[in-house]
Amino acid sequence: MSASPKPRRLLAVNGPNLNLLGTREPDVYGTTTLADVEALVEERAATLGWEVRCVQSNHEGVLVDAIHAAREDCAGIVINPGAFTHTSIAIRDALTGVGLPVVEVHLSNIHAREEFRHHSYVSGIAVAVVAGAGVHGYAFAVDHLARLLA
Ligand code: DQA
Repeated sequence: MSASPKPRRLLAVNGPNLNLLGTREPDVYGTTTLADVEALVEERAATLGWEVRCVQSNHEGVLVDAIHAAREDCAGIVINPGAFTHTSIAIRDALTGVGLPVVEVHLSNIHAREEFRHHSYVSGIAVAVVAGAGVHGYAFAVDHLARLLA
């Protein structure tokens, strides 16, 4: 029996408070809305021949479930875990558990901010980390995954 072909779909995950993008601390996170970010990710992926499923939640378990579901029909994951970056072993374990390549994105440069943002539970299992490039970081992440999965 031949292996089924890898789906040409990525999962794009945004964690807590990122639904407020556009109005939330615009000096830190910019004025682009989540809808704009998701459109940017979808457009970037489409130019490279990929589909994207976008998920945003303020709830850790919903994010864990979305990551698990990606095992069925996605080939890679772009994730901005928001504040769960710094707290969630559950999200790290979910990402490790599904075994898909992960690119971690942060709008802000978390290393230039408060000390508690310097540690990420996700970075150690990510194939790449983009921080401080604003919304362009999501496009870099899509580019990188598309190249890696080509
Ligand atoms: C963030 C950085 C996190 O520290 C913060 O909790 C966020 C957003 C970023 O995109 O810069 O919610 O992930």
